Amino acid sequence: MAPHKRIPDLGLRIDIIQQPEDIIEAFDCVCEAFGRQVQDGIWIAMNPGWDTPKGRVCGAERMVARWRHKSNDKIGLPNTIFLKATLPCPHDREKRTIVGFSIWVQASAIEGHGDPPAKDLVKSLNLNALYPQNEPEQRYLCQIISSLHKRRNELIEEKVTTAPPAVLILDMCAVDPAHQRKGIARELVRWGIDEAKRRGDLEIITEASVMGRHVYGQMGFQADGHEIEYAVDNEFASRRKPPNVFMRTNGTRFDLI
Ligand SMILES: CC(C)(COP(=O)(O)OP(=O)(O)OC[C@H]1O[C@@H](n2cnc3c(N)ncnc32)[C@H](O)[C@@H]1OP(=O)(O)O)[C@@H](O)C(=O)NCCC(=O)NCCS
Repeated sequence: MAPHKRIPDLGLRIDIIQQPEDIIEAFDCVCEAFGRQVQDGIWIAMNPGWDTPKGRVCGAERMVARWRHKSNDKIGLPNTIFLKATLPCPHDREKRTIVGFSIWVQASAIEGHGDPPAKDLVKSLNLNALYPQNEPEQRYLCQIISSLHKRRNELIEEKVTTAPPAVLILDMCAVDPAHQRKGIARELVRWGIDEAKRRGDLEIITEASVMGRHVYGQMGFQADGHEIEYAVDNEFASRRKPPNVFMRTNGTRFDLI
């Protein structure tokens, strides 16, 4: 695996995260992008209190737990990779600041080839801990995440007859708003495209936000379907739901942007 790539003018580096401190720092970046900038309803529901010191610590801890519990495929490659994009600190060029973050997941319905699609979202998202004794909130999250991941999970099943029977999912991509439009997301995605090739030419899939689809579209992803529809109970109809479209690298063209 290539450890990092460099863009000489910015001093940008893309590296795999190897320590929990980096996950905690990266979480700040994610909060600024998905919380403050986009106010993404799904992300906010998954990270209650993200804009309070306590909520931020809890959110970062959950991400560290996810990072610690990653599994490997049958040849020992990690199924989940957490990437950081760093720039030199302006006042101390020996130090680096995390300005971007992405999560990549190798997924498969066949054991040993990647993480399987989650069957029980309450368990896999740890909703009893996130919303104890709050049945409506747990139900809302199950419904909205099932809708968001519907096509992703269908495609993972469709891949069981391909070789390798897996996909690489861009599960999250965020760049600190203070550092956007410098090509940082492009480099995070380029790493994934290279990694997908190294892992046997895997197709890459993602649910692309309004901002993200511009980046991915330029890098060979194509929309598969229209805007994702969220099937939720009437009581949740008025909640803000982020526009997302399913995108993939090996599908047939489906113009939408
Ligand atoms: C989407 C996001 C990750 C892009 O990060 P970024 O580092 O600013 O993207 P890049 O600079 O690599 O963009 C590469 C190209 O994509 C296009 N692009 C990126 N963001 C765009 C935007 N908001 N609107 C239109 N085009 C955009 C541009 O063509 C850009 O190149 P250019 O700046 O030279 O014109 C970032 O805006 C973000 O974190 N947004 C909030 C969270 C989010 O929606 N994440 C994506 C989830 S799928």
